[in-house]
Amino acid sequence: MITEYRPPAPVPEAFVGIPTHLSFGNGSVADLGQRITELGFRGRVFVITDDKVGPVHGPKVMESLADAGFVPECHAVPAGEASKSLDRAAELYEWLAAHRAERRDVVVALGGGVVGDLAGFVAATFLRGITLVQVPTTVLSMVDSSVGGKTAVNLPAGKNLVGAFHPPALTLVDVGLITGLPVREVRAGWAEVIKTAAIFDPALLDELDTVPLDPMKPDRMADILERTVRWKERVVHEDPRERGVRVVLNFGHTVGHAIEATTGYGTYLHGEAVAIGLVAATRLSVRAGFLHAGVAVRIEAMLERTGLPTRYDPAFTNAGAILDRTLTDKKVESNKVRWVLLRGIGQVVVTDEISADVIRDVVEGLVLR
Ligand SMILES: NC(=O)c1ccc[n+]([C@@H]2O[C@H](COP(=O)([O-])OP(=O)(O)OC[C@H]3O[C@@H](n4cnc5c(N)ncnc54)[C@H](O)[C@@H]3O)[C@@H](O)[C@H]2O)c1
Ligand SMILES: [Zn+2]
Repeated sequence: MITEYRPPAPVPEAFVGIPTHLSFGNGSVADLGQRITELGFRGRVFVITDDKVGPVHGPKVMESLADAGFVPECHAVPAGEASKSLDRAAELYEWLAAHRAERRDVVVALGGGVVGDLAGFVAATFLRGITLVQVPTTVLSMVDSSVGGKTAVNLPAGKNLVGAFHPPALTLVDVGLITGLPVREVRAGWAEVIKTAAIFDPALLDELDTVPLDPMKPDRMADILERTVRWKERVVHEDPRERGVRVVLNFGHTVGHAIEATTGYGTYLHGEAVAIGLVAATRLSVRAGFLHAGVAVRIEAMLERTGLPTRYDPAFTNAGAILDRTLTDKKVESNKVRWVLLRGIGQVVVTDEISADVIRDVVEGLVLR
């Protein structure tokens, strides 16, 4: 079966910012407390962060909350994916319970996708759900994980196996918070920016062709991040529970997830694995006869220029393992992988009619030599 997708329509005026209440700015974290009061909250605010982000950005957040009249509490978990666990969630439930948190209170997730997913999951489940505010501090979380309402923790059996949809009442993106983020993390987040431009926005992709990432001026970066996250906002508005069009966001993620999983998570950052997955998906699009080869070459060159990997290292994984793993990906239906492919920039096609030989050929061709 082949399904065609076009970029989603703008969110109608009456809904802009709803249900995500997405606010985008530079230095805007200073207004966080004020924004939360504007939403009508007068209860207490519980800030969840990690031990790398907390010391750098925690004080500004606490000050803004205190200025708005809240008495904020803060709890930091160790930085890193290992904190997305039921044990850490339990620790946070105990902390909230010890402070007698109530349903009218607010949880603020201050950090990258790990903190966002963990704090989001805790907010979704504590007292059957208390209000969540996302304050993302990585590029990935600004353009992706803090918008969309997906929260989760990992199990030993796999990533994100336990979770809930719990849309934030507010996502406050302050691009100023990226300061201090390691360049490798910035680049990894950029893979999602390139993905978004490829599936929705020819003009944005043109612009990415002209900007080198590293010396990029903050205001230009802010503009690109805002355009990227607004696309995510549109898709989520159209498909909040991931039952339809939202599948297009998985472009590059079938092989990307398989690389992350087979290398044991941590060898490649998520965005790095997605970069290799984007090369796989564009090459598959060409091999399937959907896409002009020049487009695939262009996207691959853009990823390389950004400093992202475009090949997997055979020291960590191999084609057989990656192919096996694609079959357990969540886009699989009745044992057929639903490939998210491109017909052109901004034109997505989803198909389960790609021959196993072509897939094997493409994945084998992506080994680092
Ligand atoms: N819910 C969703 O829709 C969704 C979407 C994509 C990814 N995710 C999840 O997001 C997670 C990855 O998120 P991530 O890439 O943001 O990783 P992360 O949260 O682990 O952050 C990366 C590292 O950067 C540090 N850091 C964060 N902000 C910083 C800052 N401003 N300055 C200095 N250091 C900073 C963190 O402490 C961490 O060590 C994964 O668990 C993934 O499953 C969720
Ligand atoms: Zn991703």
